[in-house]
Amino acid sequence: DKTQQDAEKLAAALAAVKFVKDGDVVGLGTGSTTTFAIKELGKRVKEGLKIKAAASSIRTEELAKSLGIEMLDLGRLSKIDISIDGADEFTESLDLIKGGGGALFREKIIASLSQNAIIITDASKKVKKLGAFTVPVEVIPLAYQYVFDQINKLGGKGILRSIGDKTFITDNGNLIIDADFGLIDDPAKLSSDLNQINGLLAHGLFINITSKVIMSEGADIIIFE
Ligand code: A5P
Repeated sequence: DKTQQDAEKLAAALAAVKFVKDGDVVGLGTGSTTTFAIKELGKRVKEGLKIKAAASSIRTEELAKSLGIEMLDLGRLSKIDISIDGADEFTESLDLIKGGGGALFREKIIASLSQNAIIITDASKKVKKLGAFTVPVEVIPLAYQYVFDQINKLGGKGILRSIGDKTFITDNGNLIIDADFGLIDDPAKLSSDLNQINGLLAHGLFINITSKVIMSEGADIIIFE
């Protein structure tokens, strides 16, 4: 249930924050799980922890600032020491689907820059095969139909993301297509096929980019690395 899930999210977040050291540049993800980690980091900063951070979304930037965390411009960084982010699905081989919150592009930049890219989840995110959760794809608006059709050619059924009757717009001013590929046999292949599509800014398959997943299940913390 929800309370149990929130307890797991919090436990995974607290376990991840223990890896953050004085002097680190920290990449901050987006989502309900990461929010627990950001709040804990805010607490630690008030207690004297010296960090600087970069955010994967406007939401996260505002939260971190409100907690007194010093923020850097992501676009100016060539290295992040440690990042903490959530996921929508992960496998034991550390492949992920992300982007449920629509922040996938900046999240991928943060993970790419990160020496230690940590993912935190409750137990519900672990899957044998990715794909029950649809793959979020961020698209430059003027390439929308082209990208939609190319996804279709790759076997994906796309839906333009909307919130109520409003089209969802990302922090970067783009659209999201949620693409259903069914269960994905070869996520690395699908990832590279998607990367070939012009006008597709980023997709939510995170392959070979994660250092460890810290999953909380009941009273246990399980680390996959
Ligand atoms: C944001 O774009 C996503 O990648 C999130 O990391 C993902 O949706 C996990 O969110 P929760 O922690 O809220 O489940």
